[in-house]
Amino acid sequence: MTTSPKIEQLRAKRRESQQGGGEARIQRQHDKGKKTARERLDILLDPGTFREVDAFVHHHNNKFGLERNKPLSDSVVTGWGTVDGRLVYVYSQDFTVMGGSLSEAHAAKIIKIMDMAVKVGAPVIGLNDSGGARIQEGVESLGGYADIFLQNTLASGVIPQISVIMGPCAGGAVYSPALTDFIIMVQDSSYMFITGPDVVKQVLNEDVTFEGLGGASVHGSVSGVCHFVADDETQALTLARELLSYLPQNNMEDPPALPSTDDPLRTESALDSIVPENPNQPYDIKKVIELIVDDGHFFEVHEDFAANIVVGYARLGGTAVGIVANQPMVLAGVLDIKASVKAARFVRTCDAFNVPLITFVDVPGYLPGADQEHNGIIMSGAKLLFAYCEATVPKLTVTTRKSYGGAYCVMNSKHIRADLNIAWPTAEIAVMGPEGAVEIIYRRELQEAEDPAARKRELAEEYRETFANPYIAASRGFIDDIIEPHNTRPRLINALQVFTNKRDENLPKKHGNIPL
Ligand code: HXC
Repeated sequence: MTTSPKIEQLRAKRRESQQGGGEARIQRQHDKGKKTARERLDILLDPGTFREVDAFVHHHNNKFGLERNKPLSDSVVTGWGTVDGRLVYVYSQDFTVMGGSLSEAHAAKIIKIMDMAVKVGAPVIGLNDSGGARIQEGVESLGGYADIFLQNTLASGVIPQISVIMGPCAGGAVYSPALTDFIIMVQDSSYMFITGPDVVKQVLNEDVTFEGLGGASVHGSVSGVCHFVADDETQALTLARELLSYLPQNNMEDPPALPSTDDPLRTESALDSIVPENPNQPYDIKKVIELIVDDGHFFEVHEDFAANIVVGYARLGGTAVGIVANQPMVLAGVLDIKASVKAARFVRTCDAFNVPLITFVDVPGYLPGADQEHNGIIMSGAKLLFAYCEATVPKLTVTTRKSYGGAYCVMNSKHIRADLNIAWPTAEIAVMGPEGAVEIIYRRELQEAEDPAARKRELAEEYRETFANPYIAASRGFIDDIIEPHNTRPRLINALQVFTNKRDENLPKKHGNIPL
């Protein structure tokens, strides 16, 4: 049977739209260890589910030789597909077409799929690999960026937005990923910065490499800009798929519950002895988390940034939960600026997307010192407090050991609308640690003591006996129950079931004024 010329024409145009920048540029992309825009979508999406839109779009610019170069699809591939059977919208910048640079047409394609995603309530995943604004264009390209930024902002808290950085992302282009919920970067092949090494050299006379200025390691551990660092592109895309499994399609839904083979009534005797007798000896809170959650699987977010607090997702009895936990192994689990901001962001992300929060508390307080004060620990600490206070998802707290001072209030205490606060018998809940407390309340006595060190030890012990336990807080009802640690998993799963339909609302307002 002969094919009609019109169908032949369609097929030819379709082929043209799929060839990107052509064989040579695709080879160059592969030589750099990078995949093409379409190859990446094949890994991200369930096989055979990608439906492309705007394959026939091209730019309408006629300057600087662009009139002879109008590739179909322009420099971004857009459409929808599924991840684990759930609808997602995607865009994937094509570096083989003019370096993935953003033209007015490119921006319009992204905005179109974002519009669709908001309308139907489905996540957007952006795969970024772009040389920035299309230099042959002018303000049209800049306007395109601004249009995307607006769309990112309006969609924030409505649908999950994930950015995977798989190449350059520089200048103002960084602000679209920064406005989304999560950023995933690839080790050694992706970078993000406002101004590149050349400008840094010109303006500051500093020598810095692409990697040193804005590579995945820097943003994963120093700036905290990126939430996940992947070893390669495939791992980055796999991380995005798993991340979606903990999130709902939109803010009107709950995250999907997955059937669990891990017994919800499972007790864990190792928990009974995990907290060392010596209150100054650390232990790994991640071990505690892994012993409690389904199949010991903890999907950590921001693993290498502000490691004195641990945040991430897991499942309990199949229900997706967000976990925030002080980490005694790092800086004794103290709250500082970075830890506060990291946790505040995570708490707000969970609350926006109806993910219940579980908080494990072992915190000696806020980090003291001029450096922290001068850099605004007051405002940063308040961010975490604000985030917990305004959160209306089910909020459960387990105090494993220390809970001192302002940090007691902040770490999802009963007073700020936590639904269930349980403590282990090892909990110490007081205004401050015994040593610090006796130095203040017995200052004169200690100055006059014959053996001040011995007297201090004695008084500290007395203070510890009196206050460094969970019973005073429990006597006031600030702690709902003191449990044997091995029962933590069944208690939390029961509470998740009990509080799943809780109703808690904030007063109507335009928006709160989180201390930024
Ligand atoms: C048009 C671009 C481009 C751009 C790259 N290309 N960036 N075309 N506009 N912004 C083209 C190149 O001409 C080349 O075309 C192809 O993409 C691949 O580029 P190469 O330089 O060969 O690749 P590579 O060596 O890997 O270097 C990648 C790069 C470099 C580091 C991104 O291309 C670069 O520095 N580009 C310019 C980056 C930049 O200054 N952008 C504007 C930033 S300002 P051929 O035909 O040879 O394949 C900005 C403002 C945003 O983005 C503001 C938002 C508010």
